[in-house]
Amino acid sequence: MMLVVTSHNGLPGIAKAMQVLREGGTALDAVEAGIRLVELNEQDEGVGIGGLPNILGQVELDASIMDGRTLAAGAVGAVQGYAHPISIARRVMELTPHVMLVGEGANRFAAEMGFSRCDLPLEHARNKWQERLRDLFPAEELDALAERKELLPLVRELINTRLRQGTVNFLARDQYGDIACGVSTSGWPWKYPGRLGDSPVIGAGGYADNRYGAAACTGYGELSIRAGTARSIVLYMKMGFSVAEACWEAMRDLQPLLTASGGYINIVAMDRHGEPFGITSKPSGGHYLVMREDSHTPEERDAVVYQENTAGE
Ligand code: GLY
Repeated sequence: MMLVVTSHNGLPGIAKAMQVLREGGTALDAVEAGIRLVELNEQDEGVGIGGLPNILGQVELDASIMDGRTLAAGAVGAVQGYAHPISIARRVMELTPHVMLVGEGANRFAAEMGFSRCDLPLEHARNKWQERLRDLFPAEELDALAERKELLPLVRELINTRLRQGTVNFLARDQYGDIACGVSTSGWPWKYPGRLGDSPVIGAGGYADNRYGAAACTGYGELSIRAGTARSIVLYMKMGFSVAEACWEAMRDLQPLLTASGGYINIVAMDRHGEPFGITSKPSGGHYLVMREDSHTPEERDAVVYQENTAGE
């Protein structure tokens, strides 16, 4: 069964990803093609060119991609000036002896690979940054923020771990039975420069292994880094758990961190046969998208709401 599973905001790219699979492309091709369209969605403030900036007004993008056939993986973090971190991550995976490049090194690699530069933030994102800081600084001082010795008090004041953060997850299974996952994000708005979340961290924000399945996360990435969430889900499937049981177990692992921080995590996952599952720790719920080889349109599914001390699936 060929299919694509995405976080709720994967809509701009999910049909393209399925088209790639139908035309004989690989799961990796599908994940990259789908995420590239989300990265171009100016309305998505958590991914790609629409992404909101860090505390200094700079857009820093993170992404990762993983090939479930070989366990090859590539990631970039805090990339500035490029619209498609997912494609840079894929080049890291395919062309370098490394898994992750960050900051200036990642920018340099993108230039060396011939990616086109892109001026970010877009006006909308810059306006939002100015609005957010307006009460704290006169507009004319904003561009001099980088000279300040202390940024941490500002970051602590502006970041709210309970608020929604955008990130996109794509999982795909192709006609050869190979699976892949990809994750792309601009991370937290107003974050400390250089902050990486779970998205570029293999095993935290995403993981894929043909033998068992794949998983990816959105939400408060520091928590899924600490719990190793995506890798845990795949390992639980290796241990014989169903995809739903594996996700519940990973949420149980996260529980103390969720309680202590007030943050949330959403997970999309699939087993090796392509059985999808989505779960969220948000009491208000959430959605994810599934498109199968025989679907005309993506199907929006309710994520299961994780509740502490319940048996789950
Ligand atoms: N989950 C995305 C991030 O924390 O940056």
